[in-house]
Parts: sequence; structure tokens; C-alpha cells
Amino acid sequence: MIITSLGHAGFLIETGDDVILADPWLDPAGAYAASWFPYPSNSSIDPNHLERATILYISHWHKDHLDEWFLHSRSKEFKERVRVIIPNFKYKKLFDIIKNCGYANIEELPSFEEIRTNSGTEIAVIYDTNPLFVDSALFVRSDGINFLNENDCKLSVADEEAIVSRYGIIDIFTAQFSGATFHPTCYTYTEQEKTKISSMRRKAKFDRIVSSIERLKASYYIPSAGPACFLSDDLRELNLNPSTVFSNADDFKYYLRSDHPSLLNTFIELLPGDKLSLSKDKPIELEKIFTDDYLSQDYLMRYAKDKKGIITTEFEKYRASLGDILSDTKEHFRSLCSNTPELGKLAAANLEVILTGENGGSFMIDTSTGNLSSTPIQNSQQIYTLSLDTFWMRAIINLLTWEDFILSFRFSIERKPDTYNEALIAFLHLETDEERQDYINYHDLIASSEKERISRLCYGKIIEYDRYCPHNGEDLSCAAIENGVLTCPRHFWQFSIEDGKGINNSGSINLNWK
Ligand code: FES
Repeated sequence: MIITSLGHAGFLIETGDDVILADPWLDPAGAYAASWFPYPSNSSIDPNHLERATILYISHWHKDHLDEWFLHSRSKEFKERVRVIIPNFKYKKLFDIIKNCGYANIEELPSFEEIRTNSGTEIAVIYDTNPLFVDSALFVRSDGINFLNENDCKLSVADEEAIVSRYGIIDIFTAQFSGATFHPTCYTYTEQEKTKISSMRRKAKFDRIVSSIERLKASYYIPSAGPACFLSDDLRELNLNPSTVFSNADDFKYYLRSDHPSLLNTFIELLPGDKLSLSKDKPIELEKIFTDDYLSQDYLMRYAKDKKGIITTEFEKYRASLGDILSDTKEHFRSLCSNTPELGKLAAANLEVILTGENGGSFMIDTSTGNLSSTPIQNSQQIYTLSLDTFWMRAIINLLTWEDFILSFRFSIERKPDTYNEALIAFLHLETDEERQDYINYHDLIASSEKERISRLCYGKIIEYDRYCPHNGEDLSCAAIENGVLTCPRHFWQFSIEDGKGINNSGSINLNWK
């Protein structure tokens, strides 16, 4: 098996007659309104050369994985010939976009259902059956080599254990090791607070990768699916910055060296164009093609200079007359409140929207009722303050989804009290009635489900708490406990071990000391 890195989460996996192309992201304009770019640059990869692929796998619809520019610009012959495999998600966004790009053979695979190619390669797509979690992982087995690409799909402990029991231990494991979220970057914390939170999140992410390497008994681990870099003038300070969650492969290597030295020999950095060859009877071979010193400001300056024109052109796509942007924004939020009103009630926040820049202004909206006011509503459970420029608000109203805009990091947000309100994020970015209703149903299901309890030794005493995470049901029986905090290994919700109350969330694991 030969694995070539295409940058970010992209891989070309060649084995026998099969050439599997996974998540190629080569759009010269990056993603999320020209905010994210592959880091390091993968411009040396020739998109036409990738048309020798026989199978195209797209893990999910986030734009750093589903590159419409790449998909659209392929030849008619490729679109008609290539076998496209994707997860059989409940929502058909991924299928529809690929179909609209002109692909003829799209197969939606149920989780863990294997296919076998004519040359004997076994392939499975694995994902959470909760429709609200829209990532997937790719498993490939050929000539006795097991390759697992989890990209940014945070598989549950149970799914990883099922992979090992079905397929055996993993030879090559790759997964996202760097954070990619707007918390704490876009929050109005001080730089010092951001650095503290980011360092905790970076470590939790690294711990999670280590626990996966151990659970999968992976021989080698390739860091992938991030970090992205930020090349527009307004975001450049996010690069190589400890106050963000975007760690790089060197940070992970350093962490392994200090905390898990026995795993250091699993680490293989594969940069764009680098190739890894594996077979059962030979030592692995690594061919390094990428040689630039990419972890430097100098590299980033050159990269940004190259992209300046493209970023300017991309911004122009979003330019539109602002008109009465304040009234239109009020109407936009009113319609979010009336779209499945139960979701706004669940979010139960008073949202202050501040539009900065030309024709700006501000207002408050109560997500529970859709009522507008000009001053904070007293006794509200939580107040969120969202600030963004009128330019971007107009883009959201016209053509940019909240999900894509939020990932662009071009806003600032504050919350009081400072706890994660997942329903509010769902309120903003779930687009259809079906998705919004599914979120409410899922929330009700978690809240009403019987709570299995677990006992465990902690600092020499027995503690008892709810076994399954109130967020998405991860098994917390082996969750790390450090400095008085229990952290869920899946999405890092944290709970105090004094009483089980959520620290960065409003849930609880109802913890008692025995
Ligand atoms: S399952 Fe998401 S944080 Fe626990």
C-alpha cells in the first residue's frame, strides 16, 4: 500500500489496481470565505494527476473536505468513471452536492458495511448514527495492511473497539490532532485566558489521539486534517499563536516526547507529496518530497503574498449593497426564532447582535420568544453578545451559511455566564426544519434516558457518577481525571469531580463521593 499526503485531510491510497482518493482539498481560494488554507500549501499537487483514482471518498460536507471547486473542475470521463463512496447520512446535502457536480456513480454506505473491490481491497465507512454528527471515517484493508483515516470524525470508544474486534489492529492510523473551533479564539477573553483555555483544549485533543492510538494498537500515526492557516490580513495573527487551538505537528511531537515517549516511534509526519510505502514483509519506506520550513512566519508571509489576489477576488463574491442591513438582520433573527420555535426555547438565550461598520447598529432578541428589545432583558438565563461586520451579515443573509461563517472566525462573541450553550449554536447553524427537530428530539432523548451509574477510584476514594456523557452519550468510565476535572474524551466537555457539574457546559454527571 502506498499512501501519499495531499495536504490537510487529503490522501491518495494506492493498492493493487485500486487508487482511493480521500478528501482532496485543492481549491486555490481555500475554504470558508477565503479564511482557511491548507497548511502547509499543497499547490504542488496536480489535480489532473489525481484523476487516475478509481474510488473517490468524501468524508463529510465541511468545505475543507468537500471541495466543490475540485469536484466541478474534473473531466467528464472522470466524473462518469470514478466510484464515489460517501456515508449514508440522513441528510442528503453531501450526496446532492456531489451529484450536482456531475458524478454518476455515488454509493452511500451504511456505517461498517464493507465493500470489496475486484482486486480484493476491503473498504468501510464508519460514522456516528446520530444525524447531527456529520463526519465519517474511512477504513481500508489490502494485502494484510489496515489503514484507518478518522480525519475530524471523533469516533466513540465503542466504535474504535468495534473496529479492532472486526478488522484487527490498525497499521496506519490518521486523524485530526489540532483543534479547529472558534472557542476560545472568537471569544472576548484576554489573551492570557485564551492561551490558558487553548492549552487545555490542545492537551485534551492530544490525549484523545493517544487514547485512540492505544485502543487501535496503531503501529503508526500520521497527524492530519489540520491545522489550517489564515492568510487574509484580518486573520493572520491566528497563525502559530498559542492563544488558539490550532496546534501543529511539532507541538504534538513535543507532547509525545514529554508525556508518552514510548509512542514517539509511531509518529510519522506526512506533508503534501510525501509518500509512505507499506507491505507486510518489508520495513516501511518514507519518501519525503516536502522540504520547506513551513512552521515559520516567513513561510506564512510568502504564502499570504501568493494568495492576496485570490482572497481579494473571493471577498468580492460576497460584496453586496448593504441596504437597511439592521432591519434585515432583525428579520433574519426573527425567522430563525420562528423556524422550529422549540429550538429557540431550548437555547433560552438573550442574544445581543452588534453590527459593526457601515450602517451598523445593535438589538437584543430573546430566542425563546423572538421578541426584540433595545436593552438586555433582565433575569435571562444567559446573555450572548455576537459582533460582526455588516459586510458579513449581508453575506449571511444573501449566500453564506452560518456554519461556514462561524468557521471563518470573522466575528467576536461573549457569553454570560461563560458556559457552552450548544442549543444556541444549533439555533444558528441547523438550516432545515428536519435538522432542527432532530436536534430537539435528540436532546429530549438524552435528558430522559435512564442513567447508568459507574463507580471508580479517584484520589484514593470511590466516586460514583453517570456513566454516559450528557452531551452525546460517550462512555465516561475511563475518562481522564486531572486537577479535579473529568474530561469527556469525545468533545471535551468537562465536569468538576466535586459534584459533577459541567465546567464548560451546562450539563452534569451527578457525581457523588462515597
Ligand atoms: S460526548 Fe460530546 S463531550 Fe461527551
